[in-house]
Amino acid sequence: MTQSAGDAPALYDMDVVRGFALSALIWGIVGMTVGLVIALQLAWPELNWGIFHFGRLRPIHTNAVIFGFTLGVVFAGSYYGVQRLCRVRMYSDTLSRINLWGWNAIIVAAAVSLVLGASTSKEYAELEWPIDIAITVVWVVYAVNFFGTLAKRRERAMYAAIWFWIATILTIAMLHIVNSIELPVSMWKSYSAYAGVHDANIQWWYGHNAVGFLLTTPILGLMYYFLPKQAERPIYSHRLSILHFWSLIFIYIWAGPHHLIYSPLPDWAQTFGAAFSLMLILPSWGGMLNGLLTLRGAWHKVRTDPVLKMFVVGLTFYGMSTFEGPMMSIKTVNSLSHFTNWTIGHVHSGALGWVALTSFATLYYLVPRLWHTELYSWRLADLHFWTATLGIVLYVTPMWISGVTQGLMWRAVNPDGSLVYTFIDTVSAIRVYDIVRAVGGAIFLGGAFVMLYNVVMTVRKGTASAPAPTPPPVEAAAVAGGN
Ligand code: HEM
Ligand code: HEM
Repeated sequence: MTQSAGDAPALYDMDVVRGFALSALIWGIVGMTVGLVIALQLAWPELNWGIFHFGRLRPIHTNAVIFGFTLGVVFAGSYYGVQRLCRVRMYSDTLSRINLWGWNAIIVAAAVSLVLGASTSKEYAELEWPIDIAITVVWVVYAVNFFGTLAKRRERAMYAAIWFWIATILTIAMLHIVNSIELPVSMWKSYSAYAGVHDANIQWWYGHNAVGFLLTTPILGLMYYFLPKQAERPIYSHRLSILHFWSLIFIYIWAGPHHLIYSPLPDWAQTFGAAFSLMLILPSWGGMLNGLLTLRGAWHKVRTDPVLKMFVVGLTFYGMSTFEGPMMSIKTVNSLSHFTNWTIGHVHSGALGWVALTSFATLYYLVPRLWHTELYSWRLADLHFWTATLGIVLYVTPMWISGVTQGLMWRAVNPDGSLVYTFIDTVSAIRVYDIVRAVGGAIFLGGAFVMLYNVVMTVRKGTASAPAPTPPPVEAAAVAGGN
């Protein structure tokens, strides 16, 4: 398979893209390694050592994979895509550098502070107030740079990918600021400005929309830009992309209360969240179909191209998890799934299947072009695709079975109303699934290490500086010059 190496003219700033591509891969490896460690700790609790116990490592896993890995790929992909779609260099190279180094410093600060026990205890918003302020500053830097680039663009029309990245930038700014309003009582301790059920509601408005605007819209931006590029086909329907965009962002923002079903939140609000969650199937599947139908006439390429395989399986998992999520929002289903490993299975069918595979595909597209060379090994990329797919199946399937087992055992009652099973009975019953999940995670992580090796070898044989344009051969010059 060949890659065109010449699509990075000096006009564009590729240093920031290279930086984010590498940092994302490193954070991906770190975050997934910690994911494997906590998976092992769930199967073998004796692996909890000192401060490196499940409670502290779990948020390190989620922060590293969401903010270090996923957002790193999103920064890389959006910096690459927006310059090409607008046909201009980024608004400011200085802002790009601040974004790159500032963001990575934040991830380091997150890992250190979490392992030392500093946490707000709000899921996906665990970081304490000094880091929250740093996140706000760096996010504003990204926003100014992105919108500054749009303002000076030389291409009037704004392609769908840009719209999805704009939605990400604006919504994450709003969510982060509102959910992080807190009262600092010391350098590393603060209390939320909200209390009780209001706190929970705002937290899950944030948490659900972090899924929507960190794990969905920016990844859709990557899909809309890089899938047609790799397939060398135009997107199936621009009209559908507009419909998909507006309906998705309008509906997503209201669905947060599905995390608080059967909680003290007013019943009408729970029903409202569940109704919007059900509606979410439509735009989600519209997006999935727009991606898959782009491959009309190019399906033969999918057989041999690991990048397209990753996009296709990624979109398929997107379709599966966005069908499963609305089902889990139905109150009766949620009464079984909530608190169980079913949720963890749902999370990882989205996170590994949709987010990680699309991110890997994006990196495989980018790396050879950024270093002006061929990928070191397409066979290794194919091996990565198969290990990742096997890893996902071995992760997600046992979590579904384990979740339903837990849910059914918890609710089983004897005729006199007493519980049939003790809690420890359920823990013993699901242990085998915890072990299989850890095996799946290890295989998935193994694939990521194969990718790391492939990327390092590609970078070593390539060069960051764009090759000088080749002078035309003498004969051709003579013909062109007409003498
Ligand atoms: C080798 C790969 C991975 C392994 C072994 C792994 C393992 C785990 C484990 C054991 C948990 C804790 C489950 C629990 O509390 O019962 C977890 C939680 C989580 N992981 Fe992963 N993970 C991996 C990759 C990823 C990736 C790539 C993402 C996102 C892009 C991700 C996102 C999450 C999230 C959001 C949670 C919290 C789920 C919840 O609270 O419901 N994981 N992971
Ligand atoms: C139509 C789209 C979706 C809907 C309606 C939906 C709905 C749900 C529901 C009902 C829950 C369980 C809440 C609970 O019982 O506590 C949940 C959990 C979760 N979902 Fe989804 N989901 C969707 C798509 C996705 C996708 C694509 C991803 C990942 C890429 C994802 C990631 C998560 C995460 C991380 C959680 C766990 C949150 C936590 O408790 O920490 N969801 N989702």
